[in-house]
Amino acid sequence: YEIYLNGMTGATPRLPTDLTRLEELAEHRLPPRAVGYVAGSAGSGTTAAANREALDRRRIVPRMLRDVSERDLSVEVLGRTLPAPLALAPVGVLSIMHPEGEKAAARAAAAQGVPYILSSASSTPMEEVASAMGDAERWFQLYWPKDPEVARSFLDRAKASGFSVLVVTLDTPMLAWRPRDLDEAYLPFLHGVGTANYFTDPAFQAGLAKPVNEDPNAAVMRFVGMFSDPAKTWPDLAFLREHWDGPIVLKGILHPDDAQQAAESGMDGVIVSNHGGRQVAGSIGAADALPGVAEAVGDRLTVLFDSGIRSGDDIAKALALGARSVLIGRPYAYGLGLDGQAGVEHVIRCLLAELDLTLALSGHASPASLSPSDLIEHH
Ligand code: FNR
Repeated sequence: YEIYLNGMTGATPRLPTDLTRLEELAEHRLPPRAVGYVAGSAGSGTTAAANREALDRRRIVPRMLRDVSERDLSVEVLGRTLPAPLALAPVGVLSIMHPEGEKAAARAAAAQGVPYILSSASSTPMEEVASAMGDAERWFQLYWPKDPEVARSFLDRAKASGFSVLVVTLDTPMLAWRPRDLDEAYLPFLHGVGTANYFTDPAFQAGLAKPVNEDPNAAVMRFVGMFSDPAKTWPDLAFLREHWDGPIVLKGILHPDDAQQAAESGMDGVIVSNHGGRQVAGSIGAADALPGVAEAVGDRLTVLFDSGIRSGDDIAKALALGARSVLIGRPYAYGLGLDGQAGVEHVIRCLLAELDLTLALSGHASPASLSPSDLIEHH
């Protein structure tokens, strides 16, 4: 309605309302290194393409005459009621897109009432992001540091800063082969000190011979050596369960057996995700993994979804396939790059307005009534 009303005075939205056009605009307007970091994916992009294909192959079958006059997008997620089935995915080093980086994105999430998931690899320390958000819903994403003292310190800091849910990303024991970053010698990762949470961490600093500003190279080497740990196995999750009281969600689950293991390890949820196609090239589209995971653990764990969501109908499809809520990554990073906090808010509002219309026009008054039978697979 706001767009229609503004339109009567001749004003059109500042950014495109179709998020694929927003991406084109970002590629056109933003510095190549920044947009390459966000848009890039593993190998030649086969998995990112598979994410789109898996969503596009499924089609909604609209139903009629089902009273959709009163609608409600709210969902129950991990014991809290969220106003809509949407969260901002953890995206590292956002200062490369905008000087206000994570703070602008977090403020946008807070203003629109969707959870903000802060990356371990943020360019802003978690305490600063937390204080920019008031008491709005925030979750912390952990790249599980090799040094258990640093891991514990991260959990303590996140708890003290009001982050309520721990999201543990499992699909990045190392960074994948990402040509657009490799061709830039991984310089994007140094932008805005992507290691802010590390360099400000007392346990991290305790392991350095000299303070960070006196020997930054040693600090970078310590960070690179510990940011994630490829030796971890399922029993190690007991450490996180012991040191985190709130819900724990495992991000990057694609196989039903891994989802089963998550349930058996005392976890609260999983995020079906292939990191937006940025880790394993040639892997399945994330939406193709969703039905199997939902069937295996949907009654025991909260199942969330990301990778490839670009529209309200994509969200409806993911919910129909068994997700309780979805996350978006690149779309809000482009919004941030193009128009700061307002750009992120634009992306959130477009998606939720389109979701509301898609549900209504398909005969659904709330996300809860969606099921796999609302989709057909098109071959
Ligand atoms: C990511 N993603 C990510 N995930 C994570 O757990 N920690 C992180 O620090 C990052 N960093 C990051 C940077 C950039 C530039 C992108 C695009 C993505 C993955 C992210 O959380 C999410 O899984 C995907 O972005 C979802 O796919 P779409 O929405 O980008 O298609």
